[in-house]
Amino acid sequence: MRTTTSRLLRLSSGLVAAVTLLGMGTAGAEPTLERGRYLVEGPAGCGNCHTPQGPDGPVADMGLAGMMVEKNDMFTAIASNITPGSRVADWTDEQLGRAIREGIRPDGSIIGPPMPFGLYRGISDDDLMSMVMYLRQVPAVDHDPGQSVYNIPLPPAYGPPVISVAEVPHGVTLEYGAYLAGPIAHCTECHTTFGPKGPMFDTHLGAGGFEFHGPWGVSVAPNITPTRLAQYSDAELDGMIRKGVRPDGARMLPPMPYGYLAKMTDEDAAAITLYLRSLPALPDGGQ
Ligand code: HEC
Ligand code: HEC
Repeated sequence: MRTTTSRLLRLSSGLVAAVTLLGMGTAGAEPTLERGRYLVEGPAGCGNCHTPQGPDGPVADMGLAGMMVEKNDMFTAIASNITPGSRVADWTDEQLGRAIREGIRPDGSIIGPPMPFGLYRGISDDDLMSMVMYLRQVPAVDHDPGQSVYNIPLPPAYGPPVISVAEVPHGVTLEYGAYLAGPIAHCTECHTTFGPKGPMFDTHLGAGGFEFHGPWGVSVAPNITPTRLAQYSDAELDGMIRKGVRPDGARMLPPMPYGYLAKMTDEDAAAITLYLRSLPALPDGGQ
């Protein structure tokens, strides 16, 4: 299986190179380790759930080694060790990709919440394989974070099998901003009002209201539609998103992945701002 993928990858890289040489232009669509590093360490921020946290933030030599992310009446969720020091080392690239994008392990079992599969199902094939390439070469950490316990039934799947997701051309565009704010950085997972079945994307996209409980007390994801964001300049918004600092200088609360979003390029941050400003203005959500 793994040989087939790498052959396919090589084939598609060859095609991309050929097209570029012909001067037809591409979106740079080709899985690369660099892209995977950027996504995982930057906007996708997988470590926000998967890297153990110490008093000073992510523990340096424990990157992606797994930790307890959420404990409530419905579940105790422990994000797995996803370094090559874990069982994922035995999975093929396709199997690891399917676990990330569809929440299904090679043995058919379902990965539980809060990993945002509703959005991850939209990760492009190339970005998914880039992330897999990156995960394969992070330092192997021998650490067992423990097993999640779900007191709620998990669905048999998060939707029909995902066959293929096309690359979204990169640039400061609404389309790419929507892709970054959704499938990549899952801003809309946290900032969309929750209903009985999770975020109500169809009716409350970006309206906010979800409460996060943790050592910091309680934080509430605010409305990120123009109803609330109109008061901020682009620079002020960027300060909140990439630095975690409010216009008045106050530091913002977890669990928004500020440290990861800080590594986002200016262009990607601008695409997200463009997208947020285009959302339908909704009243504040809440339960
Ligand atoms: C909001 C928290 C959260 C985020 C963000 C998140 N994960 Fe997870 N992930 C989890 C939890 C919790 C589990 C374990 C769930 C369970 O026990 O069923 C998990 C499980 C996994 C697994 C299955 C591993 C195994 O051995 O079963 C993989 C692979 C994985 N995550 C990769 C990723 C990648 C790659 C990213 C970033 C693109 C990511 N995750 C982002 C919380 C998260
Ligand atoms: C894991 C959940 C989570 C994710 C992912 C997340 N946020 Fe947040 N966000 C929050 C929380 C919680 C707050 C409130 C923090 C506080 O009260 O200090 C917040 C605050 C904000 C604010 C400040 C709004 C205001 O008026 O106070 C903005 C803007 C924002 N987020 C945008 C984003 C964008 C853009 C992304 C994706 C690139 C994102 N968030 C990803 C949870 C999240």
